[in-house]
Amino acid sequence: MAKRRGKPPRIPQLGSHGLDDALHGYATEMSGQEPPGLEALRRATWTQTVKPQMLCDELQGRLLAALSQMIAPQRVLELGTFTGYATACLSEGLLPEGVVDTVDVDDELHLLQDEHWTMIGCQSLIHRYTGKAKEVLASDALFSDDDRPYDLVFIDADKEHQQWYVDWAIEHVRDGGWIVVDNVLWWGEVLRVASGASADPNAQRIHALNAYMKGHPSLDNLLLPLRDGLHVARRRPRR
Ligand SMILES: C[S@@+](CC[C@H](N)C(=O)[O-])C[C@H]1O[C@@H](n2cnc3c(N)ncnc32)[C@H](O)[C@@H]1O
Repeated sequence: MAKRRGKPPRIPQLGSHGLDDALHGYATEMSGQEPPGLEALRRATWTQTVKPQMLCDELQGRLLAALSQMIAPQRVLELGTFTGYATACLSEGLLPEGVVDTVDVDDELHLLQDEHWTMIGCQSLIHRYTGKAKEVLASDALFSDDDRPYDLVFIDADKEHQQWYVDWAIEHVRDGGWIVVDNVLWWGEVLRVASGASADPNAQRIHALNAYMKGHPSLDNLLLPLRDGLHVARRRPRR
């Protein structure tokens, strides 16, 4: 495949299972280019952190940016900031006065986040919360200065409490708001759980979560098999 002129060597990314790597590369190549600040953040993540594979890939980042642009949110919540790549993507469609609140238990990456959010130009749009997501959400810290409901909640922290996070999000997104959950295919292990061939606890929890979201009376849902799977759900209007 022809390389983009002047583009530095591709930074490693995990392919999308089920979609072969060449096709995934083609889809990435044929999609809008990753902005330079985000490319620098991807590079820094791969060279300066110990678990760079936690980073969302380029295609997924562009999808999050597109969702943000389609929804044109005033308020977004991300659970699981990591190096702040998805945070920056989610900020791309914010309305004036819009913010992305992001929560992570780890504070060691703040400098790296600050440097890149400043370079990208989204630093002032991001409110960072440090702590376990469940505790931050239960504390009402997110609503002490801002009582707007969320337009979009992106769940990408620990897998243990995902259903709790989804239930919280159903309560705190506006009517017609969106909930997106990452890693809902668990690298294919959910299939083995569904057929009884695996007892992997995370995969079991995730399979149960997918079934829960599909059957939830307040959600219209779509499971996208992009990379490790994104469960996208719209909150039905409250009666
Ligand atoms: C997969 S990474 C997030 C990746 C990021 N959203 C992105 O796409 O670039 C998961 C993050 O969740 C954080 N995390 C893990 N357990 C958590 C918890 N209980 N509460 C808040 N954050 C947690 C980790 O520190 C890690 O940074």
